Amino acid sequence: MSASAATKKRITALRDQLRQFNHQYHALDEPSIPDAEYDRLMRELQQLEVENPELIDPYSPTQRVGAEPADGFKSVKHDVRMLSLDNAFSEEELENFHRRVTERLGFEVSEPIEYAAEPKLDGAAVSLLYENGRLVRAATRGDGSTGEDITHNVRTISAVPLELIGGDYPRVLEVRGEVFMPLKGFDAYNAKARSSGEKAFVNPRNAAAGSLRQLDPKLTAERPLDMYVYAVGRVDGGELPDRQSEILTRIQTWGLKICPERESVVGIAGCLAFYASIGSRRAELAYDIDGVVYKVDRTDLQKKLGFVSRAPRWAIAHKFPAQEELTVVRGVEFQVGRTGAVTPVARLEPVFVGGVTVSNATLHNMDELHRKDVRVGDTVIVRRAGDVIPEVVKTLVDRRPKGARKVKIPKNCPVCGSEVVRENDEAVARCSGGLVCPAQRAEALKHFVSRRALDIDGLGSKIIEQLVNIDRVKTPADLFGLSRDELAALDRMGTKSAGNLLAAIERSKNTTFSRFLYALGIREVGEATAASLASHYGALNPLLGASEDDLQQVDDVGPIVASRIRTFFDSEDKVAMVNTLIDSGVRWEEAAPAAKSAIGPLTGKIFVLTGTLPSMSRDEAKQQILAAGGKVTGSVSKKTHYLVYGDKAGSKLTTAQNLDIPTLDEAGLKKLLVDQ
Ligand code: IVH
Repeated sequence: MSASAATKKRITALRDQLRQFNHQYHALDEPSIPDAEYDRLMRELQQLEVENPELIDPYSPTQRVGAEPADGFKSVKHDVRMLSLDNAFSEEELENFHRRVTERLGFEVSEPIEYAAEPKLDGAAVSLLYENGRLVRAATRGDGSTGEDITHNVRTISAVPLELIGGDYPRVLEVRGEVFMPLKGFDAYNAKARSSGEKAFVNPRNAAAGSLRQLDPKLTAERPLDMYVYAVGRVDGGELPDRQSEILTRIQTWGLKICPERESVVGIAGCLAFYASIGSRRAELAYDIDGVVYKVDRTDLQKKLGFVSRAPRWAIAHKFPAQEELTVVRGVEFQVGRTGAVTPVARLEPVFVGGVTVSNATLHNMDELHRKDVRVGDTVIVRRAGDVIPEVVKTLVDRRPKGARKVKIPKNCPVCGSEVVRENDEAVARCSGGLVCPAQRAEALKHFVSRRALDIDGLGSKIIEQLVNIDRVKTPADLFGLSRDELAALDRMGTKSAGNLLAAIERSKNTTFSRFLYALGIREVGEATAASLASHYGALNPLLGASEDDLQQVDDVGPIVASRIRTFFDSEDKVAMVNTLIDSGVRWEEAAPAAKSAIGPLTGKIFVLTGTLPSMSRDEAKQQILAAGGKVTGSVSKKTHYLVYGDKAGSKLTTAQNLDIPTLDEAGLKKLLVDQ
């Protein structure tokens, strides 16, 4: 039966669309749609071509891998084709793969097949060619047969050895791997680009691909790139082990980096266990991955299995649920947070992304909203990675419908009507209502009762909102005046739960100084800073009277945090609230304050401590330095005078050495304390 006109039309449309996306993705490094959408369109086309073989066209996007090299790069012919991978999006698809492997090998279904399981790194595939141990060429994958020569750029990546080590490497060794941008570097790069008005990258993969396609290697050198090798291509004049897992181990001895998160597993059960284990640690990894890859471990079996057009039959990528999807913005609303920050939130057509259905996504602040030019009616890419709040990452301007409505910053707080202000050039707009604003009040209360603050069990958002709405609770101190009857009268409350809640409120009065400080919700004072303040001052009074200079003696407290703390305690309202809390019975044990800085031989000298000292604890060392008039801070900077190191000293030691800061071991420190 020949294809219907509608099918032909759909095939043509899909090919055109995919060609267009390919060009944007590969040649312009500016993907216009999420990968998941691309995969779906590609699959639809593949399926239609399978069903209608007479319509297969050698120029169809299904028949190739990448895109043509951009102008400005030399073409490179790959001696051994760089293959791609087939994808499995479900357990069922993985089982089908395993069954095909087993059957083709003529194995019994019960016979175990060993797989090398590896993370699927989300970057750009690169081939490295070593001759006599020297890097002579680096190339992109391109269409699999022909790529681009990017040697000058790849040479700037410190993870790529220019010369192999060990000596027992093959005369000609071509390896393949993924160049990627670690997440920390990606965030830092984007933050810098945004602050200097340059374009930020949409995701780490595009950052990696874009960085490799710079014509000027100096620009590539500024990008924090890394590379893990996961396969070999051409090998002449040398032998390699006969298992994927062992090949990687061998390659590593030659100075190439391989991903540490790999495992040899057996059968489907082994694959699934690896998938689950990496999936649960995905958010903690230092780099982006979009799934895992299983490769039949034995290379003799790989040869038997061979490959079909663009992918080997012996390997498959098992993808994680997509973290980016397309959806439509139905509206933009503004939420008011604890500190009054007015945050634009996009109301979305519900979409399944990152494993859950998402119908709201943050737009962060007004600058972001304008930069992304999000309008009501727009099609956008939403991203939900791990437990992070879903965000709108990009607007597809070419899909904008006529009449899409621009979003304006509200002049007045949507909750209390107070004026919305932007402090000197801050990106964040804030409601000026303070605790007059029910939204800020409710958020401040939610923070006050949260688990890491006063930890009032059973006092959820709904109850707080009711108490705020009826104006019964204005400040945290009011919580301690609530009666059982008042609580029982609230929605969703019975006498019993009111009793429980009252008991929880009573229990919460017994707290710690550090929790109390954190609960106050002073801007920029998170848990760690609250803990530092508590241990430094030991009690409330010395903290209330501390000057900004004095506050900066505390670990982690810089000028901004110091000024926030001062502003808080300079406010009569805030101090009154603190006093009311104490009058209501909130209490903690006051500790002796940590030794205050004295005038002594080390006055003005700033120390950083790292590692384990042989005979004293770090705290003892700190007390001695403080007693001699010195200061101890948490991180090494140009202002540091001495770094004191012990066993297992970390990166602080290296940083100090790089900055030419004198370093002391315990003996050196003791000498200094005595000598001065
Ligand atoms: S092996 C013959 N292993 O995924 C198989 N690829 O979708 C060739 N990728 O082009 C690839 N991590 O850029 C392999 N551990 C891994 C990988 C990996 C990421 C990328 C690679 C490849 C693409 C295929």
